[in-house]
This record gives sequence, structure tokens and C-alpha cells, in this order.
Amino acid sequence: MDIRDSNVDKSLLRFTTTGSVDDGKSTLIGRLLYETNCIFEDQYSAIATTSEKRGDEKVDLSLLLDGLASEREQGITIDVAYRYFETDNRKFIISDTPGHEQYTRNMVTGASNAQLAIILIDARKGVLTQSRRHGFLVSLLQIPHMIVAVNKMDLVNYDQQVYDDIVREYSDFSRKLQIHDISFIPVSALDGDNVTTRSENMSWYNGHTLLHKLETVVVSGDKNLIDFRFPVQYVIRPNLNFRGYAGTVVSGTITPGEKVAVLPSGKTSRVHSIETYDGQLSEAFNGQSVTLTLEDEIDISRGDMIVRSGNLPRTATEFDAMICWMDEKPMKLKGSYFLKHTTQTVKAFISEITYKVDVNTLHREQVKTLSLNEIARINITTARAIFFDPYNINQATGSFILIDAVTNQTVAAGMIRDRTRQVDDISNMINLTRKSTNVTWQGDMISHRKWEEFNSHKAAVIWLTGYSGSGKSTIARALVEKLFEKNCQVMLLDGDNVRHGLCGDLGFSDADRTENIRRVSETAKLFFQQGNIVVCTFISPFDKDRQFARSILPSPSFFETYVKCDLDVCKRRDPKGLYRKAESGEISEFTGVSSPYESPEHPEIIVETDIMTVDQCTNEIMVTLEKAQII
Ligand code: ADX
Repeated sequence: MDIRDSNVDKSLLRFTTTGSVDDGKSTLIGRLLYETNCIFEDQYSAIATTSEKRGDEKVDLSLLLDGLASEREQGITIDVAYRYFETDNRKFIISDTPGHEQYTRNMVTGASNAQLAIILIDARKGVLTQSRRHGFLVSLLQIPHMIVAVNKMDLVNYDQQVYDDIVREYSDFSRKLQIHDISFIPVSALDGDNVTTRSENMSWYNGHTLLHKLETVVVSGDKNLIDFRFPVQYVIRPNLNFRGYAGTVVSGTITPGEKVAVLPSGKTSRVHSIETYDGQLSEAFNGQSVTLTLEDEIDISRGDMIVRSGNLPRTATEFDAMICWMDEKPMKLKGSYFLKHTTQTVKAFISEITYKVDVNTLHREQVKTLSLNEIARINITTARAIFFDPYNINQATGSFILIDAVTNQTVAAGMIRDRTRQVDDISNMINLTRKSTNVTWQGDMISHRKWEEFNSHKAAVIWLTGYSGSGKSTIARALVEKLFEKNCQVMLLDGDNVRHGLCGDLGFSDADRTENIRRVSETAKLFFQQGNIVVCTFISPFDKDRQFARSILPSPSFFETYVKCDLDVCKRRDPKGLYRKAESGEISEFTGVSSPYESPEHPEIIVETDIMTVDQCTNEIMVTLEKAQII
């Protein structure tokens, strides 16, 4: 069966399945292969015989994948890494990775490149920490589609209540992950219910089968076709007349004649030719292994990167990244590791754990180390600069693995967010030219710690961001009342109020909004230093401005709170009649109509005012503050 020869026009879906053998993963894949007629007759009869010998009531389709020794002896050989199958409508590649460790590593290093993930939940066991962790990884890895298959429905008598409870619990969790496309399907992989055909045992389920979803999910093409990145794997020099650089185009495309730069030297040249085993190419693209020759002689070695000269990646030795720790041995802060990124391996150490994510609650915790399977945001320093793009722009150049220098084991997989931002960078970004010279910072009479002791709570900044009409001010006011009742020292900074005085000279251009947020952030910082819990409520539509506020405060004290609300709902509410005015052109540069809003990527708190009450929203914030031991 070679699906590559058949019907070339069919689209391709790459997906991955998560869960252990116990959850029925192998049985599910076996069932998909079997029911789409993608296994050979002799393979089927071999596993049927084994099942019969073992006294199984039904043919155990998981044997197709589990590759028990006896089956292998009978001549069944199945590709261990990828499985292919196809239907009349689509071709599929399943990257099947046994066990959690490989799963994470392969996903993170882009080996699977999955466009969809199936998360299996055993109906009898319900939502486990592992199910949440996998969901979190799917969102972290930005796999665009997710299907939660609630399996083994036959073992819970096809009970709708069991299914509904799991859907509710998992939806409550996944909503906070901002996964755009998630669907739930009750299945029995063993009996085939709702896998490729609709189940007669679950008439209460009105949705589609798993295969239908796989066949119809709309997927966009490969991730990054724009930024040409070519990490050099080998320098090929068979004789003095030929010097070529072999590697894989990990993103983008290139043609002969294009101007390129080589990193780290920064030297430029043009592509002379693109060589392959089968001859020269007029273009090389994403995923192709080729050898490039350049017009000029440049000293290039393994680990260097060839890019288009007008489109450079970032270069740094310090990064802000998310990692998943995958080793039994806990992480050693400041310990020495090797970091493997594209084709280069460099010495590295983790300089700081910004926070660990509790995958059950999604709360952030301050910790000093990481254990097996834990996920955290960290700062990492490398001995030599690496050339990268943030993971959300380029998965190939945005991911890395960490290797234990002694055991050679892979201990973590990571996704780069960006360079570690220095406060200096942020001041530059804001374009601040300090005009007041000869000023000396007056130290505090009463220290921050003394204020906190006096108040009996810690200081913090709770930064509410969201569209106009999303409910920021309402929640902020209710929150201030709740904190006041608990005898907390609270300050409220509200966009509309601040714009009456302190920021009265500012309008709503991008630059004015940035200046607005800068002034307010600095004000919040002064209040913070004097022990207050500062509640800030500003549309603050730009991520870089919110980052600025974050950067001038200690990280465990800043709580970016996304007041999430469907824009249509905000427009319907239109409490100040401003959307109507904006839509009729009376007001310009109005957020959501004529000016953009960048939703927070990883806020500490999300409240959804279109589905939660004010009380629920403020409770969510209070609980987070309690967990973080602010109050
Ligand atoms: S921000 O973008 O700079 O963060 P801020 O929160 O201070 O905005 O002020 C937003 C408030 O100003 C809105 O709640 C609204 O009442 C008012 N407003 C007036 N014009 C605009 C506009 N063009 N865009 C957004 N808000 C506006």
C-alpha cells in the first residue's frame, strides 16, 4: 500500500494521538486502519489467530500496533514511527509515539508536525492529570485542532451522564487554554462505536464520527513558508572545485540567484545552485534535504545557518522559553546541560524558573526545581549565540531539547518565546528619552517589606485588559470592594478616570496608548512599592505595552488578567454608546472597530464575562491571589 502514488490531489492530515495503551490508543488506531481497509489480509488474519489463541472474545486490533514479539515473528512489520492510511477523501499520517516522553519530545521538536491531536480519555477513569497535561501541551505547541475521544463507552454502559460530566470538566479546563477548535466524541475503539460509523448504542449523541471529523477538519498548509532557514548539517568538499552545504530547509523557500547571509559570520553571498542526488533544482522548499552552493567562498561549518539576507532570525544567548521536563532526575538550576537547536549543540544552563504551571489548575507557582513532566517558563543562557525565531512564528527554529551532559539523555523539550528582554530594551522600545536629568531616586523611608508586614498582605498589581464594554471596570470595582472587606490596602487605576487628569493630554493613536500605559505602569509601580494591591483597568490593546508593565514589577507580583468577552457581545452591550459612534465613523481609532486588540498569550488569569457572573470572575481572581499567597 503506497498512498503516495494514489490520487495526488487529496489533502493530507497529520495527527497525533495521546494517551497510554491502557486508554485504548493502539486499539483506536488499529480500528481506524482496519475499517478504512488499510491493513493487509495476512496482517489481519495473523492478529485474529493470536487473539483466538489467547482466548479473546474479539479480534484485538491493538496487536496491529503493539507489535508483540510473536506477531513480529509471523512476519508483520509495521513502521514504528508513522502510520499511513487513507480514505476516499483524505490521506492521513499518524505519528504514533509510545509513551509520554517520546510523545512530548517528538511533538516539541517538530518531528510530528501534527495539525491535530486526539486526546484519549478512558470513560471509566475520567479526566486525569495526564489528560490535562496533554491538552496543555497541545496548546503550548500550537497544534490547531484537538479532538477529545472519550473511549471505552461500552464499559460504562454507554451512559450519557458519564460522557457529559467528562465534557463539562474538560471544557472548563480547556477554555483557559484558548484552543480554538476542540470537539468531543464518545467512542468505543474496541467495538467501533463512533469511530468510522455512527453508534447505535449512543442514540443520544448527535455529533459526527471520529473519522468524519478527521476527514473534514479544515487545515491550513505547512506552517512557515516565508522565512528561509537552512541550518547547515555538513560541509561537502569532495575536491577543490566543489564546496557545498548540506542540510534540510526547515522553513521557507529559496531559488538560485537569491542573496543570502550566513550566520554567525554575517557574510553575504548568492545561491549558485541547489544540488540533490537527482540533479539540480530551480527551487528548494520547506522539508527538502538539499546541498547549496554559493557564489563566494565563505568559511561555513556545521551549525551555521544560511538565511535570506533581508530576513534574518534573531540571535541571542539568553532566552525566555517554556519547557517540559522529561527526566526522572529533577532539573538543576544553573546546572550544566547541552542545548540542541537545529543542527547545533551548545552548552547551556537554566538561569531562572519564572514560574511553573500547575497543569490541573493552570495556576503559576514559584519553584526552585522541576520534576518529571512538569512544565515551566524559564530563562536559559547558552555559551554561544543561537539563531532562532519565536516558536509561534517558526516551530523548527523555535524549539530545542536539553541533554544531560553526563548521561546523554534528553531531559527537556522547549519552545522559545523570545530573547530574554532586558529592561533597557523595553525603554528603547517605548522610545523614552529621559529629559529630566540631575534627579536622584529617593529611597523608601519604609521598606516594601515593612509595608507588607504592616498591611498583613503582599503587594501586587492586577492588570485587567480587554475590549471596551468587556466588563473590566465593573469587575475591578467589585474586586476592590472584596479586597477592602478583607482589610487590604487597594488602589484603583481606571482608564476613563486617568484620562481625565494624568493622561488627559493623550488620545488613542498607537503611540498615545503606549504612553498612556507607560505612565500608568509607572504609577502602579510606585503604589506597589508602598505595599498596595493595585488594580489597573485599561484596554491596553498592545502586548508590548502590557509586557512593559510586567517588566518593571517583580514577576510573582504581576497578574495579567484577560477580561475575555466576545466582541459582538461587547458591541451589543455598548454601555457608553461608543461602538455605535465608532461604527458610524464619529470616533476614529476605536479598539475592536478601527484599531486592533492583541489578546494576551499567557495571562495569569482569564475571566470570561460573556459566560461568567461578576461574582464568579472576582472569585477567580481572589482565589488566584490566595494561591499565590498575596492575600
Ligand atoms: S488604552 O487603549 O489606552 O488602554 P484606556 O483603557 O486608557 O485605553 O481608555 C479606554 C476608554 O476610553 C474606553 O473605555 C472608552 O470609554 C474611551 N474611549 C474613547 N475613545 C476611544 C477609542 N478611540 N478607543 C478606545 N477607547 C476609547
